[in-house]
Amino acid sequence: MSTIVEVKDLVKYYGKGENIVKAVDHTSLKVERGTFTAVVGRSGSGKSTLLQLMGGLDRPDSGEVIIDGTSIYTLNSNDLTVFRRRKIGFIFQDYNLIPSLNVWENVVLPLGLDGRKTDEKEIEKILDEIGLSDKKHAMPDTLSGGQKQRVAIGRALASYPSVILADEPTGNLDSRTELEVLAVLKRCVADFNSTIVMITHNETIAQMADAVMVIEDGKVVR
Ligand SMILES: Nc1ncnc2c1ncn2[C@@H]1O[C@H](COP(=O)(O)OP(=O)(O)OP(=O)(O)O)[C@@H](O)[C@H]1O
Ligand SMILES: [Mg+2]
Repeated sequence: MSTIVEVKDLVKYYGKGENIVKAVDHTSLKVERGTFTAVVGRSGSGKSTLLQLMGGLDRPDSGEVIIDGTSIYTLNSNDLTVFRRRKIGFIFQDYNLIPSLNVWENVVLPLGLDGRKTDEKEIEKILDEIGLSDKKHAMPDTLSGGQKQRVAIGRALASYPSVILADEPTGNLDSRTELEVLAVLKRCVADFNSTIVMITHNETIAQMADAVMVIEDGKVVR
């Protein structure tokens, strides 16, 4: 196995003086290619801040995030945006689909933004993987929560990113749909050799992961 994401002595504090919040506090970690990692920890422990820093959505006070050999915060903001589009897939709790675009268009959107041509066969493969081949022309507001989240997974997969970062992707779903979405994510790891890092509050789900990272007070404790 090889390391695809490495975090080195990462720090992100909010506020000052006695109001300082050490959201990420000298944290280091490694994620291996082709694995499914669950991130757990109580509310406010710094999980989302860590994930956003791992994905180049924010800037740390100090420390490094290395993705596929690139230390991402050495990039200027334009280059970081391009890097993020090519190398990192995001999945959020509230899906973040574009309401005026259908399923297919939502999935290929990041490729279009990157000026890349769409390989229709590849997209069909992804739609098949997320179980939405028969819904490619459907608009988001006609889909169930689980279907919407599967579209978001397809969109994250479309650029074959180095890593997919998911912040409580099943947080809005009932428990049966939650397991369905989780099964799709696990299949992505098996079929596409995707690397997934996912924040969850669900113990059962954390147990289905290849690795579990426990966050306390901005630090990886286990
Ligand atoms: N933009 C911000 N400004 C100030 N404080 C912030 C900001 N973002 C996060 N924090 C603080 O940093 C700490 C970590 O927040 P974070 O959202 O990373 O926690 P979390 O583990 O994701 O929590 P949850 O499980 O509730 O989503 C919290 O104390 C939070 O209040
Ligand atoms: Mg959070």
